[in-house]
Amino acid sequence: MVTRLLPLHLSGATVRRRGKRLLGPVDLTLDAGRLTVLLGPNGSGKTTLLRVMHGVERLSEGRITWSGPDDIVERDQAFVFQTPIMLRRSVLANLAYPLKLAGVGRATRNALARDWAQRIGLGDALDTPAPRLSGGERQKLALARALIRKPQVLFLDEPCASLDGAAIRDIEDLLRQARSDGITILMATHDMGQARRLADDVIFMVSGAVHERGNAQTTLASPETKALRAFLNGDILP
Ligand SMILES: Nc1ncnc2c1ncn2[C@@H]1O[C@H](COP(=O)(O)OP(=O)(O)OP(=O)(O)O)[C@@H](O)[C@H]1O
Ligand SMILES: [Mg+2]
Repeated sequence: MVTRLLPLHLSGATVRRRGKRLLGPVDLTLDAGRLTVLLGPNGSGKTTLLRVMHGVERLSEGRITWSGPDDIVERDQAFVFQTPIMLRRSVLANLAYPLKLAGVGRATRNALARDWAQRIGLGDALDTPAPRLSGGERQKLALARALIRKPQVLFLDEPCASLDGAAIRDIEDLLRQARSDGITILMATHDMGQARRLADDVIFMVSGAVHERGNAQTTLASPETKALRAFLNGDILP
């Protein structure tokens, strides 16, 4: 029986640093099984919100409440950063590492790691040190490393920034597959094409607050707020 982590509730979630409000107050519920894209201009609080949800950014006020217990929250949610952090070791070791931490035996973790290397096109590069991979390969490796433990929730912060077409397509395929495997995804992106291709829901942030939110098709086709209309037109927000 799986302990469900979702829905995740944020209420009045606020982050202040040195007297400045970076986020909030945010009231938000994240439901299971959806791929939600987080949009908003630079500095609008997307990264801060993702970090709060992942548990690496402390709230100054308000509450974040998962539906499951803390140990499961830590185990079953993963984060892929814009610039992935890699072990200096091989592709295989990078993939096997999260499984090792989870106590999976050597034979099983190496088999799973090989399988994932294959899925991300690195089946022939098992022994290549991760720092020697290209940017796109590294990002795919980071995503595979996040998915290999089958998290319930995956957070991504602009995972495709500075990648080209083929790498973006591969990453989007992996995300679609993850979603159909039941993984709930929240991803910040500046790529509107990507938002349109992937999102079930969108959350649009301005100045640390959720400005508009809704079903992606409807919201992106006919935004309700002037700010989102301007953002989608590529106008610079005041
Ligand atoms: N550690 C920090 N200390 C002080 N201010 C910070 C810190 N981290 C972020 N900020 C500020 O918090 C605000 C929100 O930043 P955040 O990085 O969440 O925005 P973002 O929407 O992710 O922007 P971008 O699109 O550029 O990635 C910005 O004003 C930023 O300067
Ligand atoms: Mg950011």
